[in-house]
Amino acid sequence: MMRQAGRYLPEYREIRAKHAFLEVCKTPQLAAEVSIQPFRRLGVDAVIVFSDILIAAEAMGLRLELGDAGPNLPNPVRSKLDVDRLKVFDPEEETAFLPEAIRRIVKSVGPEVPVLGFAGAPWTLGCYMVEGKAKEGFATVKSFLYHEPKIFRTLLHRIAQATIPYLKAQIAAGAAAVQLFDTWCGELNLPDYEEFALPAVQEIIAGLGGLVPVIYYTKASQHLLSAVARSGANVLSVDWRVDLADIRTTLGPKIALQGNVDPAVLLAPPERIRDVTLATINSLAGHGHILNLGHGILQNTPVENAQFFIETGQRALIQHARPAAQVR
Ligand code: CP3
Repeated sequence: MMRQAGRYLPEYREIRAKHAFLEVCKTPQLAAEVSIQPFRRLGVDAVIVFSDILIAAEAMGLRLELGDAGPNLPNPVRSKLDVDRLKVFDPEEETAFLPEAIRRIVKSVGPEVPVLGFAGAPWTLGCYMVEGKAKEGFATVKSFLYHEPKIFRTLLHRIAQATIPYLKAQIAAGAAAVQLFDTWCGELNLPDYEEFALPAVQEIIAGLGGLVPVIYYTKASQHLLSAVARSGANVLSVDWRVDLADIRTTLGPKIALQGNVDPAVLLAPPERIRDVTLATINSLAGHGHILNLGHGILQNTPVENAQFFIETGQRALIQHARPAAQVR
């Protein structure tokens, strides 16, 4: 599940009552512990390392605050000078806690359970770096893009260059796959996505050289999917606004799909959770599909509903692995 380690889990809230969010991210023992919590309690099939996409922004030289009001970068990137000052950092120096957390998780869950590393996609990370926080419409970052396209491209290129070693360090530490989160790509129209966001994603994926599978998450991206498919990612992770079977028809069987149950469905009664989960699985008949939520799990999700979603999915996918087709 997206954001499977988080505030809907009482054991996570217990740790967060004693430690600030960034402290948890930067303390390998705590980061590993909260990463493993959903595996322990829910039996999810993979463990994503606990961190945040903004950790890389901080390592590139920006101040980062992550309080209850969400992320804030008080010194945003607004000029060529600001872009030039951004560092391509050494991940084993500046973010040593992250590969160390991955090593601890791998050691704890064993070789059968894939551990996922991740980073923000350049456009989405760039939105935070320029805006300072996530705002409706993204006027500041779009104005930057239109007025200074060359400098903006340099910013995305710089983020891509920093992200390649950042992900490679996570892979070296034991990540079996990596995810790129492009939560805000849907804000762009297709030509702008193709001109700015996509090349920087392609740069990262090419730079990883096929070391491990890459999962590319895009939100509200229906109008971009033909371009998203050219990213080079092995798996496209999508939200609930799109129909998985339609995407499969359009993009063909060579690209796996991840998703796309609406996280709000986990607030529904069990019958609805079961129906939506099985419909999602049946839409691809279990082929080339990683069952997941379409965005992060909601904070007020009852743990037993998350548990029911996981169990329903695991039971159905085991049946699909056998010759019989439809699952009820
Ligand atoms: O999936 C996981 O379990 C791993 C951890 C993870 C977090 N953030 C932890 C987190 C991952 C993969 C992310 C990615 C991330 N962070 C994205 C891309 C995916 C998405 O959800 O759209 C984005 C846009 C961010 C930036 C960010 N970090 C926001 C907007 C917020 C505030 C949201 C909120 O729910 O408060 C954060 C903070 C954050 N990152 C929390 C968690 C568990 C909540 C912090 C807390 O414990 O108080």
